[in-house]
Amino acid sequence: MATHVITGAGSGIGAAVARRLHARGDELVLHARDAGRAKELAAEFPGSRTLVGDLADPDRLSWAFSHQNMPEQVDSLLHIAGVVDLGPVGELTPKTWRHQLNVNLVAPAELTRHFLPQLRVSQGHVVFVNSGAGLNAHAEWSAYAASKHGLKALADSLRHEEHGNGIRVTSVYPGRTASPMQVKVHQQEGKEYDASRWIDPESVATTILLAIDLPRDAEVNDLTVRPGR
Ligand SMILES: NC(=O)c1ccc[n+]([C@@H]2O[C@H](COP(=O)([O-])OP(=O)(O)OC[C@H]3O[C@@H](n4cnc5c(N)ncnc54)[C@H](OP(=O)(O)O)[C@@H]3O)[C@@H](O)[C@H]2O)c1
Repeated sequence: MATHVITGAGSGIGAAVARRLHARGDELVLHARDAGRAKELAAEFPGSRTLVGDLADPDRLSWAFSHQNMPEQVDSLLHIAGVVDLGPVGELTPKTWRHQLNVNLVAPAELTRHFLPQLRVSQGHVVFVNSGAGLNAHAEWSAYAASKHGLKALADSLRHEEHGNGIRVTSVYPGRTASPMQVKVHQQEGKEYDASRWIDPESVATTILLAIDLPRDAEVNDLTVRPGR
């Protein structure tokens, strides 16, 4: 049975992916920011294991993991957690920049480093949930877009490095998706939020499952998903 390590499983796209994999009986290792959140995830997904570490502080992840039982088998590592904070370059502080770069880019690199030995053994799969902002940067999106442009670079380099070891690497680039993150974006843009205008997280989950379930003769490198309405 496949074992998946998932970040961001408590909300939006990550929760949709976790529900689908849980429903079909796969093994889940759910990453959580702290012990309280881990307890909630364990209750929501019976039979799953949890892994605690704050992605906003990637320097401490290694220490945090050294005090927990790390899974011996990892077939896929699904980087889905993320944060956004909009604002013009003239107003974004280093703290705001660092927070988005840490959660969206440095922490995924650090988690990947930790799980590469297991992924090499299983000839596993690494999925990065990126964003349309990882391909194009618009006004007021600089810090988030920079973190996601960096995430594209991380994924592309990793694919070249690990192809020979049998590891597959996929980046998924969703457009606006109806989740708590999109509610915050609308608040920051001063716009009214209408969930029905945006992609259902279940649809993004479908694209992620398509990538990880593809037979081993093929690899989806990049998938762009746009709102259909
Ligand atoms: N929604 C969109 O329109 C959209 C579009 C394109 C790309 N994306 C990308 O899709 C991914 C999922 O986004 P979403 O829309 O599902 O967002 P969401 O509902 O806000 O969920 C974000 C998840 O990230 C976790 N997270 C945030 N900071 C963390 C930290 N410091 N440590 C550990 N976990 C942390 C959250 O944990 P808690 O549950 O504990 O809060 C939550 O589970 C993100 O990478 C996002 O950039 C979203």
